[in-house]
Amino acid sequence: MKHAVPTSKPIVAGDFAAVDAPDSALAQPANPVDHAIESRQSMREFLPTPVSRATITHLLELASRAPSGTNTQPWKVYVLQGASKNSLMDKVCRAHDALRDNPALAEEYKEEYAYYPEKWVSPYIDRRRENGWGLYGLLGITKGDKDKMHAQHQRNYRFFDAPVGLMFTLDRVMGRGSLVDYGMFLQNIMVAARGHGLHTCPQAAWNGFAKIILPHIGAADNEMLVCGMALGYADETARVNTFRTPRVGAAEFTSWLD
Ligand SMILES: Cc1cc2nc3c(=O)[nH]c(=O)nc-3n(C[C@H](O)[C@H](O)[C@H](O)COP(=O)(O)O)c2cc1C
Repeated sequence: MKHAVPTSKPIVAGDFAAVDAPDSALAQPANPVDHAIESRQSMREFLPTPVSRATITHLLELASRAPSGTNTQPWKVYVLQGASKNSLMDKVCRAHDALRDNPALAEEYKEEYAYYPEKWVSPYIDRRRENGWGLYGLLGITKGDKDKMHAQHQRNYRFFDAPVGLMFTLDRVMGRGSLVDYGMFLQNIMVAARGHGLHTCPQAAWNGFAKIILPHIGAADNEMLVCGMALGYADETARVNTFRTPRVGAAEFTSWLD
């Protein structure tokens, strides 16, 4: 396995030598930034260990150093914990069950922006399938296992038991470029989390339920749900968290022009 980096340990400057170097044609020394990026992975089972408000605030302050076109900083974050998180999870799980029982409700639960293409083509569809079946395979869920698939998918709507649920919104007046900015902000949160021994799972699964979520969090009419995110200490013993996704090598997606 090429990514043999420990994932839960907070990263400190003294870790330089202890961290595995990323695969590279150049033998560069490993450093904490490389380590934070490398060790981020989507975790789907969290421990109940709380995360302090000071830590969450710190992550958000750090993440806000993300660049954005003309420094527009289009992000807006809702932090859900305790009762507000529990009641939102209950509402969305109920809606998710209702949708399974009555697929016609799909009209009502629509994503506000198309995260995925309308028509899937290769190689994206192949990677998507590999990802989905890789995860389900690891959990022993086979193609016909609709109930198990539904239950696993519904783990999203419990934030995978993470103590912190984040919701991100964007003012609808903003352009597509703001979604580019948003991605950098989100990645900053996820990478910064690693520096504190925390893990995350970004979640577009919530998007279809914006109609329930936006009023619940008190978002204004002009706000669109970008995605959710689970944040907490990962349960490293959980089988689901051993899922490490592959990547296409840089040589395959890079053209060098002289
Ligand atoms: C914006 C965004 C939304 C995502 N939504 C979900 C989601 O709803 N549920 C989930 O389990 N994973 C979700 N993922 C995680 C991806 O499946 C994951 O990033 C991808 O398979 C690569 O794996 P890695 O994050 O472990 O490196 C999302 C990722 C991104 C960037």
